[in-house]
Amino acid sequence: MKIELQRKNEAVKRTFRLPGDKSIAHRSLIIGALGKGSYKIYNFPRSLDCLSTLHCMKNIGIEAENNEDGIYVYSPGYENFSKVSVSLNANNSGTTARLLSGLICGCGIEASIDGDDSLRKRPMDRVVVPLKAMGASIESSSNLLPLKFMASEKLKGIKYKMPVDSAQVKSCVLIAGFMAEGETIVIENKSTRDHTERMFKALGADIAVNENSITIKNSDITVKDIYIPGDISSAAFILACFLLSIDSEVRIEKVLLNERRRKYLDILKRMGASLSYEISKNINGELVGNIAASSSRLNGVKIAAEEVPNIIDEIPMLSVLAAFSSGTTVIEGIKELKYKESNRIKAIANNLNSIGIKVIYSDESLEIIGKDCLVNKEVHINPYSDHRIALAFTAFAMRNEGITVIDNWDCTNISFPDSLKYFKEIFDIHIHQ
Ligand code: S3P
Repeated sequence: MKIELQRKNEAVKRTFRLPGDKSIAHRSLIIGALGKGSYKIYNFPRSLDCLSTLHCMKNIGIEAENNEDGIYVYSPGYENFSKVSVSLNANNSGTTARLLSGLICGCGIEASIDGDDSLRKRPMDRVVVPLKAMGASIESSSNLLPLKFMASEKLKGIKYKMPVDSAQVKSCVLIAGFMAEGETIVIENKSTRDHTERMFKALGADIAVNENSITIKNSDITVKDIYIPGDISSAAFILACFLLSIDSEVRIEKVLLNERRRKYLDILKRMGASLSYEISKNINGELVGNIAASSSRLNGVKIAAEEVPNIIDEIPMLSVLAAFSSGTTVIEGIKELKYKESNRIKAIANNLNSIGIKVIYSDESLEIIGKDCLVNKEVHINPYSDHRIALAFTAFAMRNEGITVIDNWDCTNISFPDSLKYFKEIFDIHIHQ
């Protein structure tokens, strides 16, 4: 399916609430179900990645019932997960594959994990290496999916200094470490998203965070209802459309404002965006609040490598915004973008080039020569089957008086299946099956 977008030539003022954050949703099932008992997950998103985790967890042994307000879960506890070998399909979801690798090795069950063509190309050595160091027995060809896990004895805790800046790797090792003998210490180079640490803490696990090192030990864990705040990475696309609009305002309520996820908002402010946010609550260790933004003139900025792990999923969006800002934007330390659902460095550069924006890039940095302007042409965007590329280029349609066609729109179901419900408030949309 492809969509055609045409911006509405009218001032729009809207307030939105969004489905729950994808990263927290994965953890609400994987970490939430470590203990034995029943709990509810409110505002669970129906995105394909989260449904992949739900499906895998059901195969491992949880029971789950979909309700209007969320999901009701019963878990037998990690000590009682499947005694027979299970085949798990993570489909397109790196978080599912990597966090479940930690869970499976921690419980010592026999299983295999596979994924779709895109996930089969993404590196798994980053989780295989530390899990083997803890005593897991894993077979794979070239450390890619499919991975085969042999039933094993209890793992041994390790001290692991992460060679890549990845929250998925950190979470995999911490989840395995929770079930291992002795303590597990993970040391980060740059700070990455910390939902795993926060969820373990909220459920009463023995976890301590000290600057860049996290220590976890086996302990009792509480089973408790989890409310998932709105997904800030999905909010990122809506905010960008309103910033590039002519005269419009948006407010997004009950959205995740975790310090390591709101860096995107701080960078938008640095670019000159008329944007503010306020934190209203702390729910199970996660900050939640509201964001307000309105049409803005933006300027190019420099984004340092240290900032990148905290905006890793927002770089496609920032790149499109940079294209319509005055001056040059430089983003350093972008290598990890090559290993996402597509090679995002090329996907960003090729699409920006095709709309006439100059981009200079290498594996290390991306330089976008911006122009605060309107274009008027029919443009076709190729998302390279990557949800975040498709969603990021909707904002381009705000600066295009012609028609913007985004091919393969179905890929957005990975993280934001309801997105058109929001985009139709600011665009006229035609869908072609
Ligand atoms: C995620 C971590 C990030 C991010 C992904 C979700 C998580 O991946 O890109 O969308 O939930 O832990 P990396 O750990 O590979 O950076």
